[in-house]
Parts: sequence; structure tokens; C-alpha cells
Amino acid sequence: MTDGAGPAVAPAATLVIFGAMGDLARRLLVPSIFNLVRDDLIPEGFAILGVSHHEAGDEKLRGELEAFIPKEERGSDAWQSLRRRIGYLQGDFEQDATYAELAKRVSGNAVFYLATAPQFFGPVVEKLAAARVLNEDEGFRRVLVEKPFGHDLASARDLNARLLACIPEGQIYRVDHFLGKETVQNIMVARFGNHLFEAIWNNRYIDHVQITAAETVSIDTRGKFYDATGALRDMVPNHLFQLLAMVAMEPPNSFDAEAVRNEKAKVLAAVRGPRAAEVETHAVRGRYVAGRAGDKDVPDYLKEADVASDSRTETYAAVKVEIESWRWVGVPFYLRTGKAMTARDTEIVLQFKPVAFALFRDTDVGQLPPNRLVLQIQPQEGMSLRFLAKKPGPLVDTAEVSMDFAYADAFTMGHRTGYETLLYDAFIGDQTLFQRADMIEAGWAAMEPVLESWQTAGQPEDYEAGGDGPADAETLLARDGRHWNSLG
Ligand code: BG6
Repeated sequence: MTDGAGPAVAPAATLVIFGAMGDLARRLLVPSIFNLVRDDLIPEGFAILGVSHHEAGDEKLRGELEAFIPKEERGSDAWQSLRRRIGYLQGDFEQDATYAELAKRVSGNAVFYLATAPQFFGPVVEKLAAARVLNEDEGFRRVLVEKPFGHDLASARDLNARLLACIPEGQIYRVDHFLGKETVQNIMVARFGNHLFEAIWNNRYIDHVQITAAETVSIDTRGKFYDATGALRDMVPNHLFQLLAMVAMEPPNSFDAEAVRNEKAKVLAAVRGPRAAEVETHAVRGRYVAGRAGDKDVPDYLKEADVASDSRTETYAAVKVEIESWRWVGVPFYLRTGKAMTARDTEIVLQFKPVAFALFRDTDVGQLPPNRLVLQIQPQEGMSLRFLAKKPGPLVDTAEVSMDFAYADAFTMGHRTGYETLLYDAFIGDQTLFQRADMIEAGWAAMEPVLESWQTAGQPEDYEAGGDGPADAETLLARDGRHWNSLG
């Protein structure tokens, strides 16, 4: 966030990318840096140093990265100047020699991005620290860690302890890429910059909240990672909990990173997930079987590459949680996410309480659908408020109508990867959009009983690829007299 003068150019620094030949670096990180260069937010003294075990040199890496820069931009001054500043260091992440070489090649400010498999997070930071590369004598030194941050509470605590034994929290930037999305950042402005919403944003008016991240894509080539992970671990304690925190947090006193993160941590610590005895009724897991999703034929999950034939991994998860705070007590939050579903749809629905019906008793109005505020995160980006209006005519009859705001109508969005703000913030040292150790651990702690119980329970329920998810997910809400907002 800025004071209105527009964002300042980031300080000169070296971005060291571990895993520079990987998908994340090629598809997202370097294209984002390029967008920042185009926006004049990256100074001349900025450089990228890619580290990976592949046998290659500077030119080879530049070529690999260029393949993901739009064709029409490759000849531009912006790309050509960035391209020249990309260097390569071939090295094993677990060998001291790599870090000795790195220490020679990095001076001044540096940001280390761990775009690697998660087993390297601990070792890389320990070796960077041992080689004294993380000392801030000559300039700032910051470490960006991608998800997955642990695979349960114990492993997340362990990883936090390992990192914090090397560097303080202020040097650690834990990435949750959902926080890079404009629409997610907008939640704070919508809530705290408008009387309209915040005045009714509590358990007096809100009946329940639904948070959905549905995808049409199947697991495709990610079987190895996904089969060991599953939908719950992949999306819920991290991405969906970040959305929940944005919706449920109390107003911070400023946009200062600690002020915002303290409020988020506070609300995350108040989340009560299902206890062991409640998992059966408060959590649902599903697994897709063959169907057609997003214009693609999808096989049974069990027939996907790199999936164990006796796998019990879920590709869909839904869970009901409560927040034990004065604002939210009594308001359930229903979270769901799934692969190979009928539509790509990430949204938050706040459903309001019913109004008194007595006034309408003697009219033709059969029922009064409750008001709903929908925050659309993707692929549509915007907000819509659904409310009742009188149908024209002599009788009192009602119809549900909608007031819609679409980002694309109000603003020029341009092509963005979603990592620009995260990278820029890391360069300027703003941790607002990064996860703190306590936030990560609170997410895992709330899901611990579900993870434990699913580990020993039978099989997930089948749902057809291209559908809405397993039938039990409907039951989860139906049991409370509610139903999911339809997808798409
Ligand atoms: C990632 C998950 O963190 O988020 C993926 O590992 C998922 O499985 C992705 O597809 C969703 O992100 P987005 O930005 O495409 O909604």
C-alpha cells in the first residue's frame, strides 16, 4: 500500500531463484519481474541469479526463461535489458560448494526465492545461513518460501523452528499466492473503506459464509505431488484460510504489516475446526471418477499417472468451521475445494439472515430468499449483491435481483501473473501479504483432527468429473437447512 504518490522504484537487489529451471520460475516469477520492469518499478541495479542442478550456463537459462515471455515482447528494451542481467549458477542444493560460490557472487541486497521441492526449504536456508549469506551487514537478505509449508502441524512447526534458528521472522517471507490476487487484497478495502458493508458484517446479520475454490482442471501430470497431498492439505489450511482471515478479521489500525498480520493471526487462532468426534458430520472428502471437465475427458483419479492404485487421497474436500469470536459466534463458515469440477469458481458468499415474514403473509410471496453478497475472486473478479425487489404489477410479489461490480468494467487490469505485488513487496520489505509462523500453524492446527481421522478412514466418496462434487457435501449443508451457492 502506498501514500498516494504511486509505488516507488524497488531498491537495487539480486533475486536468487533456487529452482530457476522449474515451472514456477519460468511461468510466474520471471514473467512477473518482467511486468515490474515494464512498470518501471525495478531499477537498473537489479539482477537475477538462477540456481539449479541442471547443466547449463547463463545463455541457456536466459533462453529457457524467454520462452515464457510473450513473443511480441521479446525484442523490447525492457526484456533485453532484463535478459542481460540474468545469470546462472549450477549447483547442488545440498552441497556446501554451491553456497561458497553463491557467497562470492552475491553482494548488497539479496532476496532468495525457494522455488524448489519442499524437502529443500530447511536445508537451503541452513546452508545459506552457514555460508553467512543471510547476514545483513552489506544490505538486506530475505528468504521467500513457497508452499507447501509443512504437511501437518508437527512438520510446519518443525520447519518454522528450523528457519527461525537461522534468521528472524522479519527476514522470512512465506508465500501464499492467493494473497497476490487483487480481489483478495480488495476484501480489506471493501470492508474497511465502506460503511455499507462493515456495518452489517457480523453475526447479527450474517447467517453463514461459504468459501469455495472449485477448479475444472484434474491433477493431470501432478500425480506424484498430489497423491501425497490431497485437496485438504493443498488448499484449505493455506489458501482458503487466508480468504477466511480476510473476511473474518477485525479492522487493523493501519496497513502496517504487523497490524494486519496480528489481526489475521488473532482470527485464525479463534477458528475451531471439527473435533475428532465431529469429522464424520463436519468434513467431507470426495474423489473424481471419469467424466468431462473443462472441455477435457478426465479419467478416474485412480487411473491418473503416478497415483497409487490403492490411494485414498481426496480430490475434493469440504469442511464446516466456527470462529469463536464476539463477531462470529454462531456463524458457520463452510469451506470447499475440488479438482475436475463443473466450473472454475473461487468465491466467498456471505448469506444474510432471513427477514421477518409476517408482513408478506397475506401476499403471493411464497418465500423470501435471503440477501447474499458474493465476492468473486476468479475467474470473474468483482462483487455482487443479491437482494429482493418488487415485481412490477398490482400484486405484492418479489424477485431476486443483483447489483454487480466487475473489476474489468471499472479498471484496466492488464495481464498480470498474480506474483508481481508479492515480489515487489519482498523487495521493499513489506510483509503484509506474507504468512507469519503463527498463522501457518493455526491453519494446520484447525485441520489436524480431520487429517488424522482421514488417515485411517475408508475411501473418499466418488463424484463424477465435471460435476458439483460428492453428494455428502450437499448433506453437510442440508443438515443445517442450507445449500451451496451454485458453481460458475
Ligand atoms: C496451488 C495448488 O497452491 O493453487 C494447486 O497447489 C491449485 O493445486 C492452485 O491448482 C490454485 O491456484 P489458482 O491461483 O489457479 O487458483
